[in-house]
Amino acid sequence: MKRVFSGVQPTGGLTLGNYLGAIKHFVRLQEEYDCFYCVVDLHALTVPKDPKELRTLIVDTAAYMMAAGLDPEKVTLFVQSDVPAHSELSWIMECTATFGELSRMTQFKEKSEGRESVSGGLFTYPALMAADILLYDTDVVPVGEDQKQHVELARDLAIRFNSRYGDTFKVPEPVIPKTGARIKSLADPSRKMSKSDTDPYGAIFLGDSEDEIVKKVRRAVTDSGREIIYDPDNKPALANLLTIYSHCADIPIEKLEEMYAGKGYADFKKGLAEAVIQCLKPIQKRHREMSESGYVKEALVEGARKAMEVSTPVLKRAKERLGLPNHMMG
Ligand code: TYM
Repeated sequence: MKRVFSGVQPTGGLTLGNYLGAIKHFVRLQEEYDCFYCVVDLHALTVPKDPKELRTLIVDTAAYMMAAGLDPEKVTLFVQSDVPAHSELSWIMECTATFGELSRMTQFKEKSEGRESVSGGLFTYPALMAADILLYDTDVVPVGEDQKQHVELARDLAIRFNSRYGDTFKVPEPVIPKTGARIKSLADPSRKMSKSDTDPYGAIFLGDSEDEIVKKVRRAVTDSGREIIYDPDNKPALANLLTIYSHCADIPIEKLEEMYAGKGYADFKKGLAEAVIQCLKPIQKRHREMSESGYVKEALVEGARKAMEVSTPVLKRAKERLGLPNHMMG
């Protein structure tokens, strides 16, 4: 069985972008692959967090992943900081990556732009992400478009390490969905939908109430012209809404164009809001059940145990190649 690895940050609620671009695919892949899915809490520390809030968000993120359909009987679901090998290999990856490479990461450039002070962790973040992936002899990494450059760096670091020290890491492949890999902000289609969107109407969260969804969809920006057609170059806002609609309702975009031929934005938005509500309803219901059950924490303990079992020998292998003694690793 081929191996899949991917991660989700526990920073604020999960968005519809996280779901359509990544988590929905994680669920599909669990049937065919040996999947490792990680709540990457160490990545969340690149910006200071309230410890109480972070503690809650870590479990809540896992609860949403399970509510979306991940089955801990089929996948290994765990929290990054529960498996110390991630931090350890991260340092090794920092020493494998170059300053130039890390400086070229577009996410770092975007997130650091205009800020007076950013943490060192924000800069070295892709090295930790490479460690996450390489620790599990990963074949494929399903991610949204925004993470592709980071997965490509993980590939480059694996290849570099292997050529310096001998075959050690499997070289992973990013897998990006054909559509829905970059869900845009409802308030500004030039930006991705993000947990940290400053516009309160930009992102739909998996926990949003029906009223909130209706309000956000109603306020979503649209393009000039009345026709409901998919034209990402000239009608980027509508193209984004059509993509969301298509994925939530499982209706091809061409069919949606037919359904709304001769109708206006008001009808379209009504249908879209309903599609999003129906898509999120079962997830929200299961999330409530999960959160009350105590099952999530149990699954995370078992997940960390399995993750440790697989990652420890890989870390040991890397340390051996580097000439580090491994005195305490048996
Ligand atoms: P994060 O937490 O920002 O996002 C989790 C996943 O959701 C995808 N995503 C989107 N997809 C489509 N449209 C959007 N608007 C959108 N927003 C987010 C992301 O591409 C991602 O797949 N660095 C990663 C987490 C990570 C990781 C890893 C991923 C850490 N280690 C190892 C893969 C492998 C991140 O911050 O994702």
